[in-house]
Amino acid sequence: MSNHINIVEVGPRDGLQNEKQTIDVATKVELIERLADAGLKSVEAGAFVSPKWVPQMAASDEVLATIKRRDGVSYPVLTPNMKGYEGARAGKADTVAIFGAASESFSKKNINATIDESLERFQPVVEAAEAEGVRVRGYVSCVLGCPYEGKIALADVVKVSKALYDMGCYEISLGDTIGVGTAGEARQMIRAVAGEIPVNALAGHFHDTYGQSLANIYAAIEEGVKTFDSSVSGLGGCPYAPGASGNVATEDVVYMLHGSGFETGADLDALIETSLWVSKKLGRKPASNVTLARAAAAT
Ligand code: HMG
Ligand code: MG
Repeated sequence: MSNHINIVEVGPRDGLQNEKQTIDVATKVELIERLADAGLKSVEAGAFVSPKWVPQMAASDEVLATIKRRDGVSYPVLTPNMKGYEGARAGKADTVAIFGAASESFSKKNINATIDESLERFQPVVEAAEAEGVRVRGYVSCVLGCPYEGKIALADVVKVSKALYDMGCYEISLGDTIGVGTAGEARQMIRAVAGEIPVNALAGHFHDTYGQSLANIYAAIEEGVKTFDSSVSGLGGCPYAPGASGNVATEDVVYMLHGSGFETGADLDALIETSLWVSKKLGRKPASNVTLARAAAAT
């Protein structure tokens, strides 16, 4: 059994999309380049969404045009519809992500579409991407709870995940958008989805609101999942998920994995340095226990 775990860094997108202050393009570009330099092979670089809905992602075209791309690193961007896909392609995106939800209410709030309508909008994106050799990742939000509906039936999570996979997504990222799920619940959810989709096509996307992410990741690994999304310094949250905190911090995931006999290819010291750098830029305290512990030990 390979002991390699893939990390999909989502800080520059999921992390920054929720920041109220204006973040200049140069800072976004430096963040993405530092993360790739730290050995991460997938760094989500932005979102081609409506600037009225998520103003912080408005300059994603400039970001894509400016980053120095490293060989062997992919820079996915979110594309909710064909308009987004066209923007992403103009920016030479190699991978795009469509994003649906297992909750009707969240789907309406986040992308102004019912689940069925959203799948209809995604179909031409996947077809265009397939024709152009662009990889498509699929996100499913609210897999362990919804800010508007509370508990979500596992059958709904399975249904949307399978619809995205059958449409042609190479990977389905299962999002605990509001970070409420526990390891036992994550395990049950993954078992249910893995009943319909190969487990090696699943990824875990845990927000850390209730501090459960590392336990959830470990439970998911025990179920055979090998890919996890995380955000340097624990940046982030979704503007349409009130009260949700950032993703689990990349450096905390890497510390846990390396200390448990897994490898990721990431350089923990470089991640900690980037975490401190970005927190300083944003004027916030790192939401990473590992970074805080290392910083305290260094003083
Ligand atoms: P809509 O208002 O229904 O769209 O929004 P529309 O098609 O009716 O168009 C209305 C206007 O938006 C038009 O402009 C369009 O051109 C424009 P106007 O004529 O009024 O000037 N428009 C766009 N502009 C830029 N890029 C586009 C685009 N599409 C239309 N792609 C829409 C529908 C999907 C666009 C909107 O709801 C939206 O942008 N939502 C994005 C919300 C978002 O980004 N949320 C955060 C990411 S998801 C997340 O964080 C969860 C995740 O991390 C996993 C997890 O944690 O669970 C992935
Ligand atoms: Mg998220």
